[in-house]
Amino acid sequence: MSGAGPIDLTDTELFLTGKHTEAFAWLRATEPVYWNHATDGTGFWALTTYSDVLWAYREHALFGSERGAILGGSFRSAEDTAGGRMLVATDLPRHRLLKREIHPALAAPVVARIGATVRELVDRAVERAVAHGGADFATEIATELPAGALMVVMGIGYDDAHHLIRLTRRMVGFQDESFVDTGGEQRLRLAWLQAEIFEFFSDLVATRRRQPGDDLISLLLRAEVNGRRLTEEEIYYNCLNVAVGGNETSSYTACTGLRALIEHPTEYERLLAAPQLLPGAIEEMLRWSSTNAYVQRVAKQDVERGGVRIREGDSVTLWNISANHDETQFPEAHRFDVTRTPNRHLSYGAGIHRCIGAPAAQLELSLLFDRLLATGARFRLAEEPRRLRSNFIMGITRMPLEIV
Ligand code: HEM
Repeated sequence: MSGAGPIDLTDTELFLTGKHTEAFAWLRATEPVYWNHATDGTGFWALTTYSDVLWAYREHALFGSERGAILGGSFRSAEDTAGGRMLVATDLPRHRLLKREIHPALAAPVVARIGATVRELVDRAVERAVAHGGADFATEIATELPAGALMVVMGIGYDDAHHLIRLTRRMVGFQDESFVDTGGEQRLRLAWLQAEIFEFFSDLVATRRRQPGDDLISLLLRAEVNGRRLTEEEIYYNCLNVAVGGNETSSYTACTGLRALIEHPTEYERLLAAPQLLPGAIEEMLRWSSTNAYVQRVAKQDVERGGVRIREGDSVTLWNISANHDETQFPEAHRFDVTRTPNRHLSYGAGIHRCIGAPAAQLELSLLFDRLLATGARFRLAEEPRRLRSNFIMGITRMPLEIV
């Protein structure tokens, strides 16, 4: 890697071409606390080893979340930020109070209902694919996972759930020309995409005000933090957090997971022969895909790590995708192994912001792969899958399959 010039982790081409694997191996070995220059004279720190990433997740007093999890800060402008309003972009003590209010919307009884809905949708989609001898797994099967989850969590119908998935997919794919017109200023594009989603939530909030239920929106309408109700905008931000948090991640993980099984046929045969290996296989799919490649923090004071001084106010990125391939934690990290143990991957993050939707995602993925294994079918890629242009979410947006 040396001599290849400075590594730029904002370069989506690096991820599209798969060259990030080599770049991260080089960073872990030579510059684990790396300053990534930006063209505008600013920049950010990149932590890439397992121990540094886990350390930063746990040191939430040193590394705050109020600048948002994604590089580039607020989606709109300095005056209109998700910081302190959206769960993922809130620090203690408010974060604890807000998470407590949101938790019932993703707690065990709700997860069980999500399971029942997802099972129905997945059964139908897999049956259809088997009958047709194939399908685009990315758009016809994997998206049924978030659809089922949204139907239950937000209390909406199937068509609305898919409409919302299309909206959030455009937002997460804001750098991808197949989702949005990538001309013009990025910030304005994001603002516009966010406004579209807020409009959807605004209708939903109005409906739930008239007719409350036991869904996330009704819960947020009743919620109080520090004796104060949430504002309308705070409700939108937290609906957005759950929608973006859940829509792309579980379905993209399913795509990358199945692709890994197709490309490692001996691992797939092991699973077919012993489906009881599935829980471990799902952990390996999560590690392998590292769908949420990084999260961003901001240093709240000067801090030293690995002989490098990080200054208060600096942006710091925690690269799950690199930590999950750190050989010191995962021997033979480059091998996809459905029996890997231990497998303490960081795909759901760690510490106070650890994913609140993890139990739902685990169940969604288990139901889907359980169903696929039950068909006894083998799958073949009908064409090269299409990757999402992003350095934040590792997605596959098209994956036509043949069932053999
Ligand atoms: C495979 C699927 C998933 C992956 C890989 C994933 C990944 C993550 C990660 C890495 C974080 C930590 C963010 C940070 O530390 O800044 C997180 C937080 C979060 N996730 Fe997930 N997620 C998944 C599924 C879901 C689902 C299904 C939902 C909701 C239905 C969801 C909602 C959230 C929310 C609301 C947060 C913020 C939690 C907090 O700040 O305390 N996620 N997720």
